[in-house]
Amino acid sequence: ARITLRQLLDHAAEHDYGVPAFNINNMEQALAIMAAANEVDAPVIIQASRGARAYAHDVMLKHMMDAVTEIYPHIPVCVHLDHGNEPATCMTAIQAGFTSVMMDGSLKADGKTPGDWDYNVGVTKKVVEMAHLGGISVEGELGVLGSLETGMGDKEDGHGAEGKLSHDQLLTNPDEAVKFVAETKVDALAIAMGTSHGAYKFTRKPDGDILAMHVIEEIHKKLPNTHLVMHGSSSVPQELQDIINKYGGQMKPTWGVPVEEIQRGIKHGVRKINIDTDNRMAMTGQIRKVLSENPGEFDPRKYLKPAMEAMTRLCKQRLQEFNTAGQA
Ligand code: G3H
Ligand code: 13P
Ligand code: ZN
Repeated sequence: ARITLRQLLDHAAEHDYGVPAFNINNMEQALAIMAAANEVDAPVIIQASRGARAYAHDVMLKHMMDAVTEIYPHIPVCVHLDHGNEPATCMTAIQAGFTSVMMDGSLKADGKTPGDWDYNVGVTKKVVEMAHLGGISVEGELGVLGSLETGMGDKEDGHGAEGKLSHDQLLTNPDEAVKFVAETKVDALAIAMGTSHGAYKFTRKPDGDILAMHVIEEIHKKLPNTHLVMHGSSSVPQELQDIINKYGGQMKPTWGVPVEEIQRGIKHGVRKINIDTDNRMAMTGQIRKVLSENPGEFDPRKYLKPAMEAMTRLCKQRLQEFNTAGQA
């Protein structure tokens, strides 16, 4: 059944678990996530970005979501818009059947320039007012995702010191978080504490200097009833880097967010954990392996099937690690 983010995260808060939000762009990823949720009896969040909507088309996504809930009627699924960049993007997602939207006003509509307080509160509040009329949930974001090591926002092109962000911008301020939730009435709040999107988050295993989990604890103390969201939460497992590189890939050494840090977050109010990169790597590793071991192969099913299975394994592992398993 399709459920809203609010319904799912209220249950998660009551029962002390976290819910991974996995990104999809195609049928294989949707089926892989659902197979994992089904195997461990877990509810799940399937999210699509603006890029995913452009890639797959809203109509395809809508029917794919209908299809997976028909195939697995007993699995609660929240269909969420990842990083909506303006109110219109959120409204068209709702029209396409999403039960939850993110209005990311931490950045302006260009997806790069940090949004100031009035901008962020303004657009977020507007989306909440409209979405709640139709029973749709809203996630907002306060603080800009990016690296505490380099000061680079993760949507920057990475050039020039003028793009550098201060720690004040990269870390969500707990007092501002309280004001933001009160003014916007969001159902869930994404916060910034040193993670960034993609595979290249940290140049070493992160410690408290570059991954500021203490910020989550401070926010949770002040906002015990607000569901917190961690973006950029792929762990970028070494073994997935190794498979990709063994079969012709060229990923540079890198570190992601250790699962034990996410588990610590779940103890302090983190309820939604966004994961895309790990699944991209799981699929790509298998596609590279099959094609390099079988250069004569050209049936897409021969590499997409192992790719789906690798994604299912990753999703299942996270559902178990976040205690989502058994909660369907
Ligand atoms: O925001 C990051 C998610 O991984 C989605 O990525 O915008 O390339 O679809 P995307
Ligand atoms: P990763 O790139 O760490 O998987 O983060 C995904 C994300 O935050 C999507 O919104
Ligand atoms: Zn994100």
